[in-house]
Amino acid sequence: MTVHFIGAGPGAPDLITLRGRDLIAACPVCLYAGSLVPAALLSHCPPGARIVNTAPLSLDRIMEEIAAAHAAGQDVARLHSGDLSVWSAMGEQIRRLRALDIPFDVTPGVPSFAAAAAALQTELTLPGLAQSVVLTRTPGRASSMPGGETLAAFAATGATLAIHLSIHALEQVVADLTPHYGPDCPVAVVWRASWPDQRVIRATLATVDAQGIDRTALILVGPALAGEGFEDSRLYAADYDRRYRPVGDAPRFPE
Ligand SMILES: C[S@@+](CC[C@H](N)C(=O)[O-])C[C@H]1O[C@@H](n2cnc3c(N)ncnc32)[C@H](O)[C@@H]1O
Repeated sequence: MTVHFIGAGPGAPDLITLRGRDLIAACPVCLYAGSLVPAALLSHCPPGARIVNTAPLSLDRIMEEIAAAHAAGQDVARLHSGDLSVWSAMGEQIRRLRALDIPFDVTPGVPSFAAAAAALQTELTLPGLAQSVVLTRTPGRASSMPGGETLAAFAATGATLAIHLSIHALEQVVADLTPHYGPDCPVAVVWRASWPDQRVIRATLATVDAQGIDRTALILVGPALAGEGFEDSRLYAADYDRRYRPVGDAPRFPE
């Protein structure tokens, strides 16, 4: 018996890995994390599967579901939205599984920041503008932030910021970032990236307005969002001598 943690992707039901889909189809028990996991994914469950929405359950109740499946020798597909490496609450479940000696594995998913960048048709790391992406959030009711992880500290680097779980605090986000990026810095808000009703707002720090959006949105900020004013990468430069494309009389990596 194994608990398979599966990244369910950002919302579009076809943005799941083949491995994730096949695991769902093979598991007699499916625990899924609420409304951000698209209902269409549950259609991959085998007939008669036990399908449980864990949004209203406590961690203890979730572990009871897993323990019951373990006792019955039934594999569990455990679905969380996006990818599991960020804000999935997988960490606390894994800690308990380890203590109970229940086997598990992890299948990654498409994270929402990648789906938002795709919606914007934007590369978040553009040469000369930004070479780092910070995945972050602002404090919430359930989660405080460690002391050093302030928006101002991240903004001081000039990196592209992908700010999760914070659209309700857009005004504060703008106030924190404007001194660092300037009022003309581009901003994008992407609501329900990859869902059929996806919405995109492009603005600057001076003009951005949430337009009534109050959840399930990403705020992306940074000069790379402009999509212009950057250099070509050296990777494909005609004179750049590299292993896969030796150039010149004395290439560094001769064939
Ligand atoms: C609990 S976190 C889950 C993050 C998820 N594990 C991931 O990989 O993106 C939920 C937050 O992620 C962002 N999010 C999740 N799905 C989204 C989507 N389809 N479009 C825009 N933002 C999304 C929002 O900021 C939302 O408040």
